Amino acid sequence: MIPEEKVREVAERLSIVEVVSDYVPLRRAGGNFLGLCPFHAEKTPSFNVNPAREIFHCFGCGAGGNAFSFIMKIEGVSFPEAVKLLARKAGIEIEERQLSTAEKKTQDEYVQFLLINDLTSSYYRSVLLNGQEGEPARRYLAGRSVEADISEAYHLGFAPDRRDGLVKYLKNNGADLDTAVKLGIVRKSDSGWYDLFRNRLIFPIRDARGKVIAFAGRVLDASLPKYINSPESPLYHKSSVLFGLNMALPSIRTGGSVIIVEGYFDHLALYRAGIENVVATCGTALTSTHAGLIKRHAERVYTLFDSDNAGKKATIRSMELFLEQRVPAYVISLPVGDDPDSFLCTHPVEEFAALRDKARPAFEYFVHSILAETHPDSVDSKVRIIDDIVPRFRKIADTVERDLYEKEICRLLGITVHSFRKRMGGGRLSHQKTPAEQNKTIQPGDAIQDTLLALLLNYPEARAEIIRDGLDKIFTDDYLELAGLVLDSLAGSDDSQALCQLAETLESPEQKALFSRIMVSDSYLAGIEWRSVLDQCTRSHEKKQLASIKDIAARLAVLDPGSAEYTQLLKLADTLRTRKSKL
Ligand code: CTP
Ligand code: MN
Repeated sequence: MIPEEKVREVAERLSIVEVVSDYVPLRRAGGNFLGLCPFHAEKTPSFNVNPAREIFHCFGCGAGGNAFSFIMKIEGVSFPEAVKLLARKAGIEIEERQLSTAEKKTQDEYVQFLLINDLTSSYYRSVLLNGQEGEPARRYLAGRSVEADISEAYHLGFAPDRRDGLVKYLKNNGADLDTAVKLGIVRKSDSGWYDLFRNRLIFPIRDARGKVIAFAGRVLDASLPKYINSPESPLYHKSSVLFGLNMALPSIRTGGSVIIVEGYFDHLALYRAGIENVVATCGTALTSTHAGLIKRHAERVYTLFDSDNAGKKATIRSMELFLEQRVPAYVISLPVGDDPDSFLCTHPVEEFAALRDKARPAFEYFVHSILAETHPDSVDSKVRIIDDIVPRFRKIADTVERDLYEKEICRLLGITVHSFRKRMGGGRLSHQKTPAEQNKTIQPGDAIQDTLLALLLNYPEARAEIIRDGLDKIFTDDYLELAGLVLDSLAGSDDSQALCQLAETLESPEQKALFSRIMVSDSYLAGIEWRSVLDQCTRSHEKKQLASIKDIAARLAVLDPGSAEYTQLLKLADTLRTRKSKL
């Protein structure tokens, strides 16, 4: 635990411009600094840093926050780690709260685990590189055209054909073998200690920061099992680890996209061909944890699985995960029988790039693969196809996308939209919201609401007036919620520190993005006549609300008068009408 004052001290000692400049070249633009966003690909700068408020915001991708969140995002680290990193930069020493004995023990063990994995990986590496024992593995790698630089990049190794080579090495280096047992790389039997990996090529598996957390070993011939992996351990949870993420992060950041493959050698083949934004699952299907991890780093994903049945299933399953996470997903299809490694061994990388550029949206791929299996030539088969599609269709978050797919599906099946919707369960096609989405999403760029919120932040007099008239007179939906939170956090004080902290405590990503957007872009309000802006905005806002009376009437016509939504809308319409008559 890092004490609160220390966090504050670090924040005060460093300017955000200084912190960001280590990663992004910035130039001054008015009150802000401007640069190319490191979190998405762009050619014209939309990444703003506001030194007065100590925050950043990108108008391209919505990323925003303070110096700590910048470091968390760009280094892929937790909050305490970001604080420590910046403390080092600021020359501030952080003595953490005294750990309890139990905590201390866990931490010591954690350090031991990493140490043992480092020892293990250098042992396998040296066996591969030096001496007679490594010869078969060197031949194997040469046979697969894995040159020295690639072998080094992956830190490949070789576990010799010995019962206890690693055991002895660890012992000689003073490592505690009982701790190594917890990592699964050595085992204990009645006749003594022995190694897990024997006569296998070794791929160290690293976390996002490059720490070795596990190992995979491949046989050098056709024997089975082809791979064995270290078991789950306190360091290694395979459902949340993506092999190669540490190598891929820089190019994921610059290009915005990531390619997911299923094998270590597939990863290696792409990397060798110069395609670096690649990660692989470690002998397991993609999980929602993986998808969440990917969402943190990439804006777009490509899946590149085998073209066999298992690969198809994996592709469709991953599509569902990415639909749920709202990450646009595309499917790269290789010729039947090829995997990325075999394809790149026989084709130039440009041909691979062409396939990637032709990648189809995952949902489209899904619909076509269902149609390829079941021909929609009878009522019965159409019903079966629709029932297959519907649960996934519901997960499409984007309304425009959903409309397009609805039309496409109906066209392909030769049915009307009406009958499709009926089969969907009738009524409106409401997409099932994930819990995060249930806090309504913010309409990006409602200019009037933006300005009103900026007034609330900048002009205490305007704030007082807004509070007197009631927030709900001028704010709607998420703006209303955010305005409430702003007032709470200011609560009497006019401390800009309070606002910077609010940026960190906001839970919904949409609110966070909205807040940082306004905080970096409200300088146009400096020195204005707040009252006339407030009046103007209030009027425009009300006019806009009135326009929606018509929409409300249309909605009311189709709703069940007994429903809660009906009552709510009716009330809203009444309020709006009263206001109109006053205008
Ligand atoms: N895998 C595994 N255990 C096995 C077989 C496969 O964990 N017994 C996992 C590995 O992560 C492997 C991936 O599934 O990388 C894909 O398997 P496969 O395509 O057979 O292996 P490749 O990595 O493509 O290796 P190669 O090119 O040498 O066949
Ligand atoms: Mn393969």
